[in-house]
Amino acid sequence: MARTLLSLFAVLLAVDGVFCFPSYASLAGLSARQLDEIIPQLTIRTLASPPGPLEDPSAKLVNDPAHPFIAPGPNDIRGPCPGLNTLANHGYLPRNGIASPSEIVSAAQEGFNMGNDIAVFVTYAAHLVDGNLLTDLLSIGGKTPETGPDPPAPAIVGGLDTHAVFEGDASTTRGDAFFGDNHSFNESLFDELTAFSNEFGAGSYNLSVAAEFRFQRIQDSIATNPNFSFISPRYYTAYAESVFPIAFFVDGRITDTLTLDMTVARGFFQDGHMPDNFFRSNISWGLTEIGGGIDIIFTPHPIEPGANAGALDSYTLDPNSADFTDFCKLYTDFVNITVRGLYPNATGALLGALNQNLDFFFGPLQSRGCTQVPAFV
Ligand code: HEM
Ligand SMILES: *[C@@H]1O[C@H](CO)[C@@H](O)[C@H](O)[C@H]1NC(C)=O
Ligand SMILES: *[C@@H]1O[C@H](CO)[C@@H](O)[C@H](O)[C@H]1NC(C)=O
Ligand SMILES: *[C@@H]1O[C@H](CO)[C@@H](O)[C@H](O)[C@H]1NC(C)=O
Ligand SMILES: *[C@@H]1O[C@H](CO)[C@@H](O)[C@H](O)[C@H]1NC(C)=O
Ligand SMILES: *[C@@H]1O[C@H](CO)[C@@H](O)[C@H](O)[C@H]1NC(C)=O
Ligand SMILES: *[C@@H]1O[C@H](CO)[C@@H](O)[C@H](O)[C@H]1NC(C)=O
Ligand SMILES: *[C@@H]1O[C@H](CO)[C@@H](O)[C@H](O)[C@H]1NC(C)=O
Repeated sequence: MARTLLSLFAVLLAVDGVFCFPSYASLAGLSARQLDEIIPQLTIRTLASPPGPLEDPSAKLVNDPAHPFIAPGPNDIRGPCPGLNTLANHGYLPRNGIASPSEIVSAAQEGFNMGNDIAVFVTYAAHLVDGNLLTDLLSIGGKTPETGPDPPAPAIVGGLDTHAVFEGDASTTRGDAFFGDNHSFNESLFDELTAFSNEFGAGSYNLSVAAEFRFQRIQDSIATNPNFSFISPRYYTAYAESVFPIAFFVDGRITDTLTLDMTVARGFFQDGHMPDNFFRSNISWGLTEIGGGIDIIFTPHPIEPGANAGALDSYTLDPNSADFTDFCKLYTDFVNITVRGLYPNATGALLGALNQNLDFFFGPLQSRGCTQVPAFV
């Protein structure tokens, strides 16, 4: 009842024109009636196909005069991803933190040399669950601060801070949502990471440190978060995000041993700040290259997907979750369970946009032997 009232409140506010429905807020889970009220307010975009790979994927100066660091202002949105926060702080993404999926793919490729397949895959995964499929906009964090000049409706969620559809537990430098803040840089976690870098990486972050710290963060959540969940898709993104700092935060002029200096690491994780004269990686890191890093991290401590069963230290394996033996199941379950669950009854323009985005999301898997889930009807 309280929830219904809240939703109704949000719609009335939107209709009154006191608050506007944020153009980047997700339409997931809204009733047909709410959608009828909101959709006419939105500017529906014709969706562009995702950008292709970089023409010249070599290292180059990316902290350049055209992309200076500017700290976010009070109305600029930032979120749990240090990569996207950095791209917004350097103007590779709109500095307000609201972007289309195409802009995100281009920025991740241009600024960090993220491979086209993984950039498209993670961006459309995130957009499908956290973005607005009609306006083609996604917030890289939460909502605009409600004190802004054009405050958004209070009951509406969306953006990458949304828990349990993409964002998840056991992050490297962010706490679990259970503890109240799922996206801010956490100094004590960074201190722990530094201690692990000293112990396993001679003072820098490398894949050996990543393997030990990934395991530590999982053990920590098992021991402290009764609600800990570590199933697909979070299972995959947690491992991949442990590789990302090696792939993307190490200067591209270093090509032999990939080690990340902890001062540079802090700049990215805490401030979203590229070091002076920073060069992007000299190779595009796609699904295959990131997968190689995941193997190195997973092998010493092979944790299978699971969750705590509502109590501390009750980690129970979940045989239904996709794992590293079946990458296509990550895709299929994401579409059939996660996205379907958010949009059980889409019709009209929303259904069309949903299916177009699902096509874009499947694109990188076409060549990997996965079968596309039939379009939603
Ligand atoms: C291309 C689209 C991308 C999307 C949609 C995305 C989204 C996200 C999200 C939602 C998280 C939070 C996960 C969580 O803690 O639960 C995250 C974490 C992370 N992302 Fe991204 N990301 C993208 C690209 C990148 C890039 C290009 C980089 C590096 C340059 C990057 C580096 C990271 C790292 C290192 C983390 C882990 C942070 C931590 O655990 O402390 N991401 N990303
Ligand atoms: C979808 O339709 C089903 C069956 O009509 C209904 O029970 C459910 O509440 C609807 N869900 C949404 C989010 O509109
Ligand atoms: C608790 O876990 C469930 C299942 O993963 C999730 O839906 C919910 O958002 C979690 N709540 C918090 C606060 O972590
Ligand atoms: C994520 O963190 C933000 C800020 O602390 C909070 O408002 C939001 O409720 C959190 N989400 C969940 C599900 O915990
Ligand atoms: C940071 O993480 C630590 C360890 O998980 C936790 O005890 C602390 O409350 C967090 N700090 C903030 C400001 O969230
Ligand atoms: C990480 O650094 C440590 C210390 O220098 C070294 O022993 C280890 O082999 C490195 N790991 C990788 C994967 O390079
Ligand atoms: C990048 O790699 C290419 C091909 O191996 C090499 O010719 C070039 O010098 C490298 N650039 C940098 C900045 O290391
Ligand atoms: C996904 O859902 C579609 C439509 O309901 C169904 O045809 C397909 O078999 C499902 N795929 C899997 C692998 O569950």
